[in-house]
Amino acid sequence: MKLLNKIKYNKITIGVIGLGYVGLPLLKGFASQNLKIIGFDVDKKKIIKLKNRISYIKHIQLDSIRKNKKIIFTSDFQKISNVDLIILCLPTPLTKNKLPDLSFIKKTMLSIEKYLKPNQTISLESTTYPGTTREIIYPYLNKFKVGKNFFLVYSPEREDPGRKSILLRNIPKVLGGYSDRCKKIGKAFYKKFFKKVVVTKDLETAEFSKIFENIFRAVNISLVNEMKYLSEKMNINFNDVIKASSSKPFGFMPFYPGPGIGGHCIPIDPLYLSFKAKQKGLKAQLIETSFKVNYETTKRISNIINSKIKKRTKPKILIIGISYKKNIDDVRESPALKIIRDLKNKGFNVNYHDPFNKTLPKNRNFFAKMKSKNLNAKMLKKYDAVFICTDHDNIDYSLIYKNAKQIFDSRNVFKNLSEKIIRV
Ligand SMILES: NC(=O)c1ccc[n+]([C@@H]2O[C@H](COP(=O)([O-])OP(=O)(O)OC[C@H]3O[C@@H](n4cnc5c(N)ncnc54)[C@H](O)[C@@H]3O)[C@@H](O)[C@H]2O)c1
Repeated sequence: MKLLNKIKYNKITIGVIGLGYVGLPLLKGFASQNLKIIGFDVDKKKIIKLKNRISYIKHIQLDSIRKNKKIIFTSDFQKISNVDLIILCLPTPLTKNKLPDLSFIKKTMLSIEKYLKPNQTISLESTTYPGTTREIIYPYLNKFKVGKNFFLVYSPEREDPGRKSILLRNIPKVLGGYSDRCKKIGKAFYKKFFKKVVVTKDLETAEFSKIFENIFRAVNISLVNEMKYLSEKMNINFNDVIKASSSKPFGFMPFYPGPGIGGHCIPIDPLYLSFKAKQKGLKAQLIETSFKVNYETTKRISNIINSKIKKRTKPKILIIGISYKKNIDDVRESPALKIIRDLKNKGFNVNYHDPFNKTLPKNRNFFAKMKSKNLNAKMLKKYDAVFICTDHDNIDYSLIYKNAKQIFDSRNVFKNLSEKIIRV
């Protein structure tokens, strides 16, 4: 059967490699279309859990695939030979020197290379610099005539963990291909789940579009954090400023200030482009400046808390929310961890409450054996201050307001300031 017909009549198997924050929701999405799916991960502990339909990520539920017998979870890459569309949802972190670390992609290509066969398609979904698919993945495919008997596409993930208001399948999916045929086949695959596929001229345009989206956020977050700092110094409530500016029906979109950037995307991806820019002898000045401003935003918070806390010796502080954003458990690059570290260094006794993180997960920025404290009136009264770092929805803020001695709020949870509340 011809490949496009196989896709049309659902005679295909989809393989997702890397079952994390991006891979798992995508796998669930394709599974909802009654397709055969194989989920691959090198982490055997995750595979055991997933085989038993136990999610290891709090906000990702597996109820919808509990009884789905068409899904297999495995660490055995030999099974790649049974897959038609191989989707790579692998980490793209930075090295210690803040350079792109593409080792996860390279290692995966090395392990699957020998199992690849004609008429398969590889799609890279990881965020990376323009040129990666062609420079890093294509060389592993030299036994094929790519574009003719093997297909290669780049289709970036736009997952926004924790956001329930937009369904994944309603988010248009950008896709670039090595050739026109790659684009046609890639689009047919993704149309099985996504409502709209936006096809770009080539691989690099799709790669650049994803990194541009993340740089857009990084720069705007830094802008809004800097503006907030300046306006607070002028005794102007910056939230009122945003509200007023947002009334403009064109040319403006609101971003909201916070304790700084976190997660696996915004603090990392822009540096992938500045790396590429340097390779071309160019300088990405806005990226570098936004990093500096965002870094200073996080640093400033512990300094403000230290200077404004009423209890001067060994103050006890409770941090609310340690994830990098609300309603998820992800603490990667979270500003909360840097703030906990800085406050401890300043002599604070620090605890936290986070319904999504019962214990402090291992991470590279700061680690100590810490457990989430249960929130109640009696315990709140024991703290000298509470710091609202991440504004998860399932937290009783009125309980905090009633019982905390002093509150530092970085998320504008408490709209009306009182003597007890300090915006940071
Ligand atoms: N997290 C997000 O919100 C988000 C959003 C859009 C794009 N992205 C991008 O998507 C990519 C993946 O991010 P993530 O947050 O899902 O990462 P993640 O760390 O949550 O998941 C990656 C998974 O890949 C597995 N893995 C590592 N090496 C492997 C290998 N050789 N073979 C098979 N599995 C392997 C890991 O065990 C892990 O389960 C990154 O490039 C990221 O920038 C992330």
